Amino acid sequence: MQAAWGTPSRFRQAGPGHCRIGILALPGWSARPLDPRQAGCRPAGRRDPDDRRELIDIANYYRQDRCGRMVVRIQVCIIGGGPSGLLLAQLLDLQGIETVVLERRSRAHVLGRIRAGVLEWGSVELLRKAGVGDRMDAEGFAHEGIYLAAQNRGFRIDFNALTGHRVMVYGQTEVTRDLYDARDRAGGRVLHGVEGVALHGVDGSDPHVTFTHDGTEKRIDCDFIAGCDGFHGPSRRAIPASVLREFERVYPFGWLGVLSETPPVADELIYANHARGFALCSMRNANLSRYYLQVPADETAGTWSDDAFWDELRRRIPGDAAETLVTGPAIEKSIAPLRSYVAEPMRWGRLLLVGDAAHIVPPTGAKGLNLAFSDVHYLHEALTRYYLGDDAGIEGYSGRALARVWKAERFSWSMTTMLHRFADQGSFGQRIQEAELAYLEGSAAAQTALAENYVGLPF
Ligand code: APR
Ligand code: PHB
Repeated sequence: MQAAWGTPSRFRQAGPGHCRIGILALPGWSARPLDPRQAGCRPAGRRDPDDRRELIDIANYYRQDRCGRMVVRIQVCIIGGGPSGLLLAQLLDLQGIETVVLERRSRAHVLGRIRAGVLEWGSVELLRKAGVGDRMDAEGFAHEGIYLAAQNRGFRIDFNALTGHRVMVYGQTEVTRDLYDARDRAGGRVLHGVEGVALHGVDGSDPHVTFTHDGTEKRIDCDFIAGCDGFHGPSRRAIPASVLREFERVYPFGWLGVLSETPPVADELIYANHARGFALCSMRNANLSRYYLQVPADETAGTWSDDAFWDELRRRIPGDAAETLVTGPAIEKSIAPLRSYVAEPMRWGRLLLVGDAAHIVPPTGAKGLNLAFSDVHYLHEALTRYYLGDDAGIEGYSGRALARVWKAERFSWSMTTMLHRFADQGSFGQRIQEAELAYLEGSAAAQTALAENYVGLPF
């Protein structure tokens, strides 16, 4: 059967024996009679964003290819079911914009990753807006400051007094679990175990994604592809090398992280500069602590016994904290490399990059997840405007997101530089770091600058 608006070029040569790409059959989706007025068009003019049904009906349609099989068209195909992809799907759903999320790993694998645990207040509000804030509000901990330490003594930066804002200590793993639960409740489509995801036609008007799922090759046609597939995913590589600009700094050290079922050593986070290397005391809840040590880039976690870790941590943090540190078995121990990275542009045609797919920050300052969420905020606004008839948000997405990305890159780099031991810094470099921390301790202006970046610049 030929579609009423003309057979798309990709099917012209294919007889029944040549159609090798299977059709995505998702639960709850059924074929509807084809209405040429609905053919791949978006509604013109402004519409009520609460009028979900209307937007879905107009922007989604079904057609048959020459093999007689139904092909799905979805408004936004999201690659990657990490926090970026899931939050984007959730926010778009609330606007009546239909998505499918394609995730390479199992849900258990995604939820098994231990990542950072500090949310800017903008992220907190975005999660609430997405309808996934209840458990965070019940179980998260609002923190009004952090401690910075050098030479084994610390001082506090009072975010609330300096900026009127706080942060929320709530693990990324929990955020991701809440997002999966919310997608389940909304009947959202998240396909796990997809393989061979490939992006096509992103710089034209016919973007589509092919992949294998449950042993069958499948294809989704869409209006936009959201590349939420992290640093190693395929989305960024779909931007031609002649267009993509990459900016990178790789640090010559990593963070050795330990999770332990022990009470946190302090009521707020401690970031410690020490001549032996940086240390961080963080937490998840009243009986779950997260600690990190700066280690050489080529170190492996297995070479660190629990005792060696605790001994080294005690050496690097302020004396009063070291004395009260409660230790216990590490329930997770891993090393993460540190890197600053930005890819420009974040939009290429109908492909929009989000989160780690476009940028990486070193974890000093906890910006990674928060930056991903500000991208999601900009993109869900842009797509909402698009489906209301206004292209400007999509056109401006990359510039808008990158303006904030670079500020967070600067902050994460400056925190990393101020707090870590660099092999070539010598005693002069160490004294400069100590002077910078002493300046921070005595200057409300310097503290305010740090605080406003830590709690998060406005979206
Ligand atoms: N096909 C499908 N999914 C893929 C593919 C692929 N080829 N490649 C990667 N993915 C999935 C990964 O399995 C992962 O679940 O994309 C997801 C990307 O998730 P994250 O790496 O967590 O990235 P993102 O969602 O942008 O999260 C923001 O900021 O600093 C970080 O730790 C922070 O992970 C957090 C991130
Ligand atoms: C964490 O709790 O894992 C954490 C907190 C703050 C950071 C980085 C990681 O800057």
